[in-house]
Amino acid sequence: MASRHTLCLLLVLAAAGAAGASTVAYDDRALVIDGQRRIILSGAIHYPRSKPEYNFEGNYDIVRFFREIHNAGMYAILRIGPYVCAEWNHGGLPAWLRDIPGMQFRLHNEPFEREMETFTTLIVNKMKEASMFAGQGGPIILAQVIENEYGDIMAQLNNNRSASQYIHWCADMANKQKCHDYATSIRMVLIISITVEPTLAAPPVARTSQPATTTMLLWMSMPKYGHLKNLHNVLLSMETTLVHGEYNESSYGENITIKTPASVMVMRPSTAEEPEALNWSWMPENLRPFMTDDLGSFRKNQLLEQISTSSDQSDYLWYMTSLEHKGEGSYTLYVNTTGHELYAFVNGEIVGQKHSTNRDYVFQLESPAKLHSGKNYISLLSGTVGLTNYGALFELVPAGIVGGPVKLVGANGTAIDLTENSWSYVTGLDGEHRQICLDMPGNNWRGRNEGIVPVNRPFTWYKTSFDAPAGEEAVVVDLLGLNKGAAWVNGNSLGRYWPSYAAAEMDGCHVCDYRREFNAAGDESDLQCLTGCGEPSQRFYHVPRSFLRRDGEPNTLILFEEAGGDPTRAAFRTVAMATTVCASRGEHDVIAGVNVARGSCGAYEGGWES
Ligand SMILES: *[C@@H]1O[C@H](CO)[C@@H](O)[C@H](O)[C@H]1NC(C)=O
Ligand SMILES: *[C@@H]1O[C@H](CO)[C@@H](O)[C@H](O)[C@H]1NC(C)=O
Ligand SMILES: *[C@@H]1O[C@H](CO)[C@@H](O)[C@H](O)[C@H]1NC(C)=O
Ligand SMILES: *[C@@H]1O[C@H](CO)[C@@H](O)[C@H](O)[C@H]1NC(C)=O
Ligand SMILES: *[C@@H]1O[C@H](CO)[C@@H](O)[C@H](O)[C@H]1NC(C)=O
Ligand SMILES: *[C@@H]1O[C@H](CO)[C@@H](O)[C@H](O)[C@H]1NC(C)=O
Repeated sequence: MASRHTLCLLLVLAAAGAAGASTVAYDDRALVIDGQRRIILSGAIHYPRSKPEYNFEGNYDIVRFFREIHNAGMYAILRIGPYVCAEWNHGGLPAWLRDIPGMQFRLHNEPFEREMETFTTLIVNKMKEASMFAGQGGPIILAQVIENEYGDIMAQLNNNRSASQYIHWCADMANKQKCHDYATSIRMVLIISITVEPTLAAPPVARTSQPATTTMLLWMSMPKYGHLKNLHNVLLSMETTLVHGEYNESSYGENITIKTPASVMVMRPSTAEEPEALNWSWMPENLRPFMTDDLGSFRKNQLLEQISTSSDQSDYLWYMTSLEHKGEGSYTLYVNTTGHELYAFVNGEIVGQKHSTNRDYVFQLESPAKLHSGKNYISLLSGTVGLTNYGALFELVPAGIVGGPVKLVGANGTAIDLTENSWSYVTGLDGEHRQICLDMPGNNWRGRNEGIVPVNRPFTWYKTSFDAPAGEEAVVVDLLGLNKGAAWVNGNSLGRYWPSYAAAEMDGCHVCDYRREFNAAGDESDLQCLTGCGEPSQRFYHVPRSFLRRDGEPNTLILFEEAGGDPTRAAFRTVAMATTVCASRGEHDVIAGVNVARGSCGAYEGGWES
């Protein structure tokens, strides 16, 4: 659960600038910056969406990122992690940690604490060396070094001693970093957060988790921008009241109603006229090497867990086996898997596909399987769409065909159990190994300018070239019509796409009214202001302008379409923010009842670790 109402943020930026060294302190009312009590209004940027290895080059140049914040006149709140939740595979913890003996994530154990301290120290020292803390003249007013909603984990583990020892170790380790020599030392901060939920209805849990540029921009900046802007203005207008004087039970007017002129994103064709259709060429994914069990990397008489086998190097893991059969036979193939999706092939033909739905990751694939006389090949392709990032012991949540069973059952009841057959394994697809996404010369692309590309063909690569849209507005590619796969522009990953995954229909969709008590438990009834029910969960994918070549130089878009889709409907668009009048969206768009001075925090109960 929880990725929805646990927008776990890596970096929080706040407006209002810093010039020269700042003092950062706090009293019982507020953060005090250069002697002024302040309310910090903040947004978040997941700076790295980074690779698992420690990499500070290029996109991952963290020091440069903080310099930009400073130059823009903003403060920064540095959130180090290493566990950051963040809708990122394992919450940012690299899969290789799993291979260290004795490792338990986020509990009291030497291997985890050693790796965590190494990482934290590295980041803090990097920031100190570059003078990025406020006391050094830099933008960082606060550093959050520890954990994320650990109170929830303590509860899940019944306050297990290992959990409480770990969180105390975290606090000691954080103090040892001595960030407070440069920023401020805060024992306890109550952070009142206004959570921006995705406006998409019932988001598929396992959302794209490749570069932030892909999804986060679209996720965060839709109509709630308009709501939050107004709410923030109200909070700022109350800043003095909120951060000065003694606690006062009086109400700040019963309701403060903010009618919002909501800003909405408008996707525009990238040229004045409707864009010319893109010319596509295509290439089949080479499945042949995986249609036998002769070419695997290794064999095992066991069906292995996927993440520990492929170490997050690819979404895909092949499981391949063979069996001898006397005469022809018609069977049903049953495969039990722990998700997230599965394709089955028998003797080179695709016979079935299934993916998990509604967060039900454990499922059974059932498909027909015709065997011939002699040797028969069964190949199973398991795919993941992101690794669990929340909850206690999430590293133990399996993926793939862990132990199966895998069975062939005939109509007459004859069963052939393949679970303990000799299985051969390969991580990744042939096209991934050959890095087709980089568009190296020598690939046999077919059909360019012939106007003929196959549609609804699974396991197909598509390629087109396009001119960068003029202007400075953000660029998106509309992938409606495509099914499920991944996209690259000039070799840069745009992430996974899955426009065929529709958001669930839900009651109350399209009605937007924030007036309610905050529900810390965050169950389904916590969802507010849903839109897009029954529609593709996402069809527009951000193409950062820094990925694009300008001045008429051609750009290349490559798609890997895994499930079968239609690329001919794809189009580039630019994004404009347009302000609409609230009334035109009905009178439901209201934020009301900000009963600010009610003092419900006074009734807050919870451990300091919360
Ligand atoms: C705490 O939970 C972890 C993970 O389940 C377990 O390994 C450990 O034995 C537990 N410790 C105690 C004291 O219950
Ligand atoms: C609380 O605030 C209200 C409104 O500003 C004021 O009338 C009242 O005197 C205050 N009460 C105390 C105890 O300060
Ligand atoms: C405040 O909002 C509630 C909930 O909509 C409403 O019932 C009440 O009448 C409002 N009070 C005032 C003074 O407008
Ligand atoms: C049962 O069905 C399988 C699959 O069609 C077939 O190969 C096998 O010969 C059958 N066995 C018997 C005893 O009929
Ligand atoms: C395999 O899946 C089926 C269907 O969900 C289920 O009934 C069966 O118990 C599962 N088998 C095992 C061993 O988990
Ligand atoms: C697509 O190919 C046709 C035929 O070669 C050409 O006329 C057209 O300009 C091309 N369109 C684009 C967008 O490149």
